[in-house]
Amino acid sequence: MRTQVVIIGGGPSGLLLGQLLYRVGIEAVVLERKTRDYVLSRIRAGVLERGLVGLMGEAGVDARMQAEGFIHDGTLIAYDSDMFRVDFASHTDATVMVYGQTEVTRDLYDARAATGCDTRFETENVVIHDADTDAPFVTFDQHGTNVRIDCDFIAGCDGFHGVSRKTIPTHVRKEYEKVYPYGWLGILSETPPVNDELIYANSDRGFALCSMRNAELSRYYIQCDTTDSPDNWSDDAFWDELRRRIPPEVGAALVTGPSIEKSIAPLRSFVTEPMRWGRLFLCGDAAHIVPPTGAKGLNTAASDVHYLNQGLRQFYGDGDSHGIDTYSERALARVWKTERFSWWFSNLMHHYPGQSDFDKKMQLAELAFLRDSPEAQAAMALNYVGLPY
Ligand code: FAD
Ligand code: PHB
Repeated sequence: MRTQVVIIGGGPSGLLLGQLLYRVGIEAVVLERKTRDYVLSRIRAGVLERGLVGLMGEAGVDARMQAEGFIHDGTLIAYDSDMFRVDFASHTDATVMVYGQTEVTRDLYDARAATGCDTRFETENVVIHDADTDAPFVTFDQHGTNVRIDCDFIAGCDGFHGVSRKTIPTHVRKEYEKVYPYGWLGILSETPPVNDELIYANSDRGFALCSMRNAELSRYYIQCDTTDSPDNWSDDAFWDELRRRIPPEVGAALVTGPSIEKSIAPLRSFVTEPMRWGRLFLCGDAAHIVPPTGAKGLNTAASDVHYLNQGLRQFYGDGDSHGIDTYSERALARVWKTERFSWWFSNLMHHYPGQSDFDKKMQLAELAFLRDSPEAQAAMALNYVGLPY
């Protein structure tokens, strides 16, 4: 069979790209290795930048997000015994939306099904062929049958462990990586959030984050060792440790309950260059990873989707290849700025092995500077709500 764009990966970037292309009459087939239920069981991001909120509207899938999401115009930062607020509204003209990645993905799957778009689940052995020619194609196995799809372009939206990035020859591709010496232990609990805005805390015992999904569903994280396991943490032990890391008045207001999900995420910064090879384009986690401090992973995937969608529309609409030819440079320019913000915020908020008393004093001085300086807060707010596309 033949289509215009094969999208490898049915996570948020592949689905969003598929829906944006569908809206302008560009045909795409999405190949997803897992089942829909499996993809929807992964608990990940919770904060959407204005850019992603806008793309959800452009894709025609924002009704539930607009009705159920929470708009946040500030965030709290706690350290020592101090807590201060960074107000987005007074430094930017933007806010962020609290609405889980699971819900974004569910809305996109529902829209795809309602519009009859072609999504193949449980695809195995996906192979990209001839991406550096004008006649690329993709083969895969599905339920025992080998399938070939010829296409104009391939979008590699298959995450960090996918096949797309690895298809780019090693002499073309350059990878940059930093692995952090700590992870995040996260839980989801059916309890009301402790506060109506997020709280990022740097404590003597390590980082903690109080976040949420909705009025009845909370998401909390504590910094842990990279070798730790969720099995080492009873719910009570998690709540006790979280309480020790947040200001006492916040701890006193914390409503605890059984966790419905508990997992550990490693922290990594990673970028591959270029993000295009011939007719193959990488989007999202397939091309880059950020540590979750600052909630940029999903949002950076969305900005890639924006640039690629623009390029493909230009190509099919006007026969102009400028957008796809400059895709990699435009996407990477924004990716690196977001990498810098996530790296900066991670270094500011965590304890790390070998941290000296001097290093600790530097963190505290920088936090005090951020607390006292409107200019520093403006820089943080601009990055947090999302740099313009
Ligand atoms: P993915 O969501 O990884 O989707 C890729 C899809 O491709 C998957 O469904 C996968 O099954 C599929 N796939 C892979 N290989 C193949 C193949 N060969 N063939 C077909 N399909 C394939 N970001 C935040 O902002 N905040 C957070 O709190 C946060 N927490 C995270 C926790 C974890 C454990 C992880 C891994 C990431 C987290 N992120 C977070 C990052 C954020 O979730 C990602 O940036 C986002 O999911 C990227 O979307 P994506 O569509 O590019 O990739
Ligand atoms: C989340 O709610 O999962 C979340 C929020 C903010 C972050 C990271 C994760 O910086």
